[in-house]
Amino acid sequence: MNVPFFRIDAGGNELEYVREVLASGWLTSGRRVQDFESMFAEAVGAEHAIAVNSCTAALHLACEAAGIGPGSEVLVPTLTFTSTAEIVEYLGGRVRLVDVDPDTALLTPEILEDALDRFPAVTAVIPVHFGGRACDMRNDSSQGIVDLCEARGVAVVEDAAHAFPARYDDARPVGSAIGSTACCFSFYANKTMTTGEGGMVTTDDEETADRMRRMRLHGIDRNAWDRHHRVGASWEYDVVAAGYKYNLTDLAAAIGVAQLERQAAFHEARMSLVERYRERLAGLPGLRLPPELANPAFDAWHLFVIHVEPNAPCDRNELISQLAAKGVGTSVHYRPLHTMTHWAQTASMDPAGYRNADRWFDGCISLPLFPSMTDPEFEHVTDVIAQSFTGGFKTVGA
Ligand SMILES: Cc1ncc(COP(=O)(O)O)c(C=O)c1O
Repeated sequence: MNVPFFRIDAGGNELEYVREVLASGWLTSGRRVQDFESMFAEAVGAEHAIAVNSCTAALHLACEAAGIGPGSEVLVPTLTFTSTAEIVEYLGGRVRLVDVDPDTALLTPEILEDALDRFPAVTAVIPVHFGGRACDMRNDSSQGIVDLCEARGVAVVEDAAHAFPARYDDARPVGSAIGSTACCFSFYANKTMTTGEGGMVTTDDEETADRMRRMRLHGIDRNAWDRHHRVGASWEYDVVAAGYKYNLTDLAAAIGVAQLERQAAFHEARMSLVERYRERLAGLPGLRLPPELANPAFDAWHLFVIHVEPNAPCDRNELISQLAAKGVGTSVHYRPLHTMTHWAQTASMDPAGYRNADRWFDGCISLPLFPSMTDPEFEHVTDVIAQSFTGGFKTVGA
């Protein structure tokens, strides 16, 4: 049996909405993008949602609006995808890599405070809501990431590529106003919802939203939809900055609208699989499961990352090979940035090192987790894992 790492579920209104866009004659950013933006803003409780063609683009726009530029030093957790760091370099800033929490792979207020004390040149930080779990941005009892940054005049841009629909707490979804400049989401093909390629950036600040909207489309003061649907000359526009070409098409937004319609069901299905993984894999010697959250619904569960501990009967690479040999797709999130050629040469490193991220990388495997996973697929994945840890838990089918 083959179980992919991820399988897209486009069985809702995706095709119908894409057909409608094709029939409408307007393919680039127009009415469907506007629909998608207002639905997403409502879903995360943000004043403004700005659709773009990737989360990388969203991060670039948000960091530009946050004032990151030549000479800026920006704190980035080492355990992330390269996008989180590369946009700092696009803007002429310098990346400073820091370690993460050993259990969650998140940047914590403790790690941040220590880093801000030691690296006073830092002007911005990009916390990553890794795997779909929100960093501690603000809480009632201690200083969260946003509190620490506010006190020192450090800008915060959130990388929420994995984190739709996650929550900071009972009251606040990730993407709502928490005190950051902006929050950036990904709709890449294997994310919790997709537009093929795509992203969204949310903010409550009108000036920031205006800036990001303009920079998304060449720094032009009016978008093509506005120009062609207003009375008067469609050729009339001004360029007020050297912007980028980051707008989302109506074709992609049509898929996004259909995916958003089913996001609650997607999330339910992911949570139920997580619960079953926990039950089924509990107690295997040397296998560590993700730490429990007070409320598991606060996690978007983009990833379910297990850890093969040093005392396990098999090692991480052996388990990946075992799973691959039995047709099961897995992934590794992530090889830390400080070990990547480019970042090893250009980023400012932490002299204290990256013990937690290195350990995380040595043991981590991301298991298949997607709403349309069937019972036999789930049984197959967990049987192979159990057998690798116990040597004969159950005969694994071919
Ligand atoms: C943590 C993180 N940030 C940013 C990105 C970039 O997202 P996109 O592919 O939409 O540009 C990704 C993509 O996987 C990611 O995992």
